[in-house]
Amino acid sequence: MTDPKRYLVTAALPYANGLKHVGHLAGAYIPADIYARYLRARKKDVVFVCGSDEHGTAIPIQAKKENTTPRAIIDKYHEAMKQDFDDLSIQFDVYHRTSEPLHHETAREFFTMLHENGDLETKESEQYYDEEAATFLADRYIKGTCPNCGSDRAFGDQCETCGRTLSPDELINPLSTLSGKTPVKKQTKHWYLPLGKHEQFLRDWILRDHKDDWRHTVSGQCRSWIDGGLQSRAVTRDLDWGVPVPLEEAAGKVLYVWFDAPIGYISATKQWALNNNRDWKPYWYDNDTKLVHFVGKDNIVFHCIIFPVMLKLHGNILPDNVPANEFLNLEGDKMSTSRNWKLDMRDYINDFVKKDNGGGQCVDMLRYYLTQIAPETKDSEFTWKGFQDAVNSELVSIFGNFVNRTFVLMHKLCAGKVPKLHEAVLDDNDKQMIADIAAAKESVENCLENYRFRDGLFQVIDLARKGNQYMQKKEPWILAKQVAEKPELQQQIHNCLHICLQLTANLALLVNPWLPSTAQKMCYMMKVVEKMLDWENAGKLKLLSVGYALREPQLLFRKIEDDEITYQVNKLKSGALQTNETPAPVPEKPAVPAKDIIQFDDFAKIELKTATVISCEKVPKADKLLKLEVDLGTEKRTIVSGIALHYTAEEMVGKQVVVVTNLAPRKMKGIESQGMILCAEDKSGKLQLVKPENPVDPGSNVS
Ligand code: MF3
Ligand code: ZN
Repeated sequence: MTDPKRYLVTAALPYANGLKHVGHLAGAYIPADIYARYLRARKKDVVFVCGSDEHGTAIPIQAKKENTTPRAIIDKYHEAMKQDFDDLSIQFDVYHRTSEPLHHETAREFFTMLHENGDLETKESEQYYDEEAATFLADRYIKGTCPNCGSDRAFGDQCETCGRTLSPDELINPLSTLSGKTPVKKQTKHWYLPLGKHEQFLRDWILRDHKDDWRHTVSGQCRSWIDGGLQSRAVTRDLDWGVPVPLEEAAGKVLYVWFDAPIGYISATKQWALNNNRDWKPYWYDNDTKLVHFVGKDNIVFHCIIFPVMLKLHGNILPDNVPANEFLNLEGDKMSTSRNWKLDMRDYINDFVKKDNGGGQCVDMLRYYLTQIAPETKDSEFTWKGFQDAVNSELVSIFGNFVNRTFVLMHKLCAGKVPKLHEAVLDDNDKQMIADIAAAKESVENCLENYRFRDGLFQVIDLARKGNQYMQKKEPWILAKQVAEKPELQQQIHNCLHICLQLTANLALLVNPWLPSTAQKMCYMMKVVEKMLDWENAGKLKLLSVGYALREPQLLFRKIEDDEITYQVNKLKSGALQTNETPAPVPEKPAVPAKDIIQFDDFAKIELKTATVISCEKVPKADKLLKLEVDLGTEKRTIVSGIALHYTAEEMVGKQVVVVTNLAPRKMKGIESQGMILCAEDKSGKLQLVKPENPVDPGSNVS
């Protein structure tokens, strides 16, 4: 979108059912905050909205778990999350909540308009009903035996043991979690959003109009939803917690949480407008508004497919981009609330930020590391060692070190004042450094405009790295020793420090969207007001005036010690061991593909054929390996396969298997393996051969 008049930036409304972890922070809140801060530095008209998502079954379930009311749960977690965001410098213009009357009213109006325009369908269906509790049962309120793995820890939406997505009808022996009784089936009516009717619109808008500017991970996921056939989605639920459906015939029903929550962005904007005496409407109705949703990948379908259809029907603008992030893993495993394998924002705040009184540096350290590893294009991983390395060898040794050296030298060699620039005696190193400063503005800007926050931050650190190299080449401390004999060197010293100081000011400005406390501290040291951080000032050598006296330096970042890291790793591991057995409520979400979406062409590159095992033996000195001779119809091949713990050599003979035949040959224990045999692996690691249901000729294509 060229030159928008105003920007509306949103970050996914977090469920008010528990504290949020650093995965959430890296996924949505930090990138959104960086983007909003950048736009503010460019003096754009920008509103950054967020708030607590306080509806859905996750809330009453958490209330039951904590033995309290849903109201108490949302009040508690709303305040806690708001505080955590504040403590980590996530600067929303408004942090609203979906339990507010303003939101209920906005959501009701939205539904009513779609209903009156005939954009919704209704359908009657049979659903589980608890006669004792006199209520229909949300999927999560029904438990039973998993049809897939036989575990009795399966719920109407998902099995906790094998992870399979379920529907209540699939459960064997369903029981209500409210009364413990067997539920009965009862007719109920619901309102649906017929997504299928909007398929062409979605195809054109996402796959054609935004082909080039949306992340491939995002449009790829959209494509697979669209290609998979868009089903009508119920937008109402039989539940007593949520926004009541504004129709007489719908007594006892509420809007589905995923219908009302994104409307929360609109209510939040209204609240912001009320607080600031502004008009909210242009932000949701004018085409020259640029709307950007920051979310994690599990939210893509809602923000790219369902909510846009709702917005279109309601006459609103559509998002210009949804730069969704992939997932952040932690120390080699998926983050998980039920297994307590996570790092809550609150824990980091308590262990680092609070202990460092004031704590701005620790906030920025986390913001730095989470950006550096941001899962922008694929899943990535938080490790405590990685955190330590990023802080110690980049923030401390490169950025902090450069700024500190510059200040120390200025006080030592230039009496604490900004020296003059002597243009006539600039050498090549000076000129190169000046050019690098000018170029950095554009490259950093380019990254920010395209939601490449990781790259952008790298560019800023790289500029500091160049600053260090420049200083190392110029060695003003050596020149200072020679100045008595060669007074003309004084100008060289001045030039070097002048450039380094202007570079420092530029670094403050450029790093500000990512590390706001650091930028503030640098402003304090330079004795400049924060207005200097206006983005237009970037790239120039004019940020500090000659002769201006600067303060003594303060260290920008402290080192992270080994024992801090060891402590955190141990804490994580022991915390995970202590988790209780009750599974945490799973907020309402569809399953998403775990790997990146690939195109058919990528899949078609793999050649799969059936083969029959002719002979088989154990590979000596390798517990897990079997060596197999297989018949592929037209040829025979040797394959080494890691299945020896699951199949004996004897039982493999005569079996039909599926082989990847065009895999590059690989040597294992000195034997060349000319292909790979496919197996399915269950959660416990048990392997089962994948094979045709009935035997086929060896060498048959599998596709
Ligand atoms: N609460 C949801 C989650 O945590 C996100 C809601 S985003 C909104 O996944 F758009 F619906 F608000
Ligand atoms: Zn199961």
